[in-house]
Amino acid sequence: MGPRSRTTAPSVRASKVAAGSPPLVMVTAYDAPGARMADDAGVDLLLVGDSVAMVVLGYDDTLQVTVDDLAHHTAAVGRTSPRALVVADLPWLSYHLSTDDAVRNAATLIRAGAAAVKLEGGRNRVAVVEALVDAQIPVMGHLGLTPQSVHALGGYRVQGQQADVATALLDDARALAGAGCFAIVLECVPREVARLVTEEVAVPTFGIGAGPDCDGQVLVLHDLLGIEDRIVPKFVRRYASVKADAVAAVAAYGADVRARAFPSDAESYHLSDEVIATLGIAGSAAMGTDATRTA
Ligand code: KIV
Repeated sequence: MGPRSRTTAPSVRASKVAAGSPPLVMVTAYDAPGARMADDAGVDLLLVGDSVAMVVLGYDDTLQVTVDDLAHHTAAVGRTSPRALVVADLPWLSYHLSTDDAVRNAATLIRAGAAAVKLEGGRNRVAVVEALVDAQIPVMGHLGLTPQSVHALGGYRVQGQQADVATALLDDARALAGAGCFAIVLECVPREVARLVTEEVAVPTFGIGAGPDCDGQVLVLHDLLGIEDRIVPKFVRRYASVKADAVAAVAAYGADVRARAFPSDAESYHLSDEVIATLGIAGSAAMGTDATRTA
């Protein structure tokens, strides 16, 4: 297998028409280690999601993070120079007040290290998407369960289960594609709705809780790794138990420290025999084994 080429917004957009191309893979990344892990694993896109608020920063919703917060995390991801396309979320209120505001805030994320931005909403965001595209900033849309609308939606619920809502969602997707979005995330919508949108719009769809018929899939890295183990949404598949493994590892370290089994002599720095003699002190050999040493 040759070296993996860089994913770009145009290459993601073009994958829709490339017959038989495998689904695209996107995961969230909020810092350099996460970005390196995901990029080494060969994902196509890294999403610096506003889910950082809940997954990393301990907030109860995504409304708490600012453009500066997203820029800080985007910069950490960007510094790893991944082959994957770095997409940064425009946080709540960063694109709702004016299109000028939206372009300026998106530019902050691009300068921090993103190569595209994502925003939530459909026909009501067409003017913003057009302004961003006009400023040469690739935009990803996000429909269905849009967490920045948690209060307006009345909670985190599956969207598009009624015929009129499903039709509106399809109209929103068409509008976003028409305005220039290069891809659209579909979150927590029935499989049938996601398939309809995927068949009807000209740009790739990325599903999260939207079934297997989308052009790509996205998951929160901490969910798939099992770092976040408190809530397990139906659509999450766990591929590791990193939280459990980490708890066991830290507990083992703690037990070793308390039993004086860590650090060992081999894990310690030493003086030369000459300096030991000059100081007139005991060398480590005279201090017994690590387990028996008392001073
Ligand atoms: O912020 C995020 O993690 C997201 C994904 C759920 C698509 O927007």
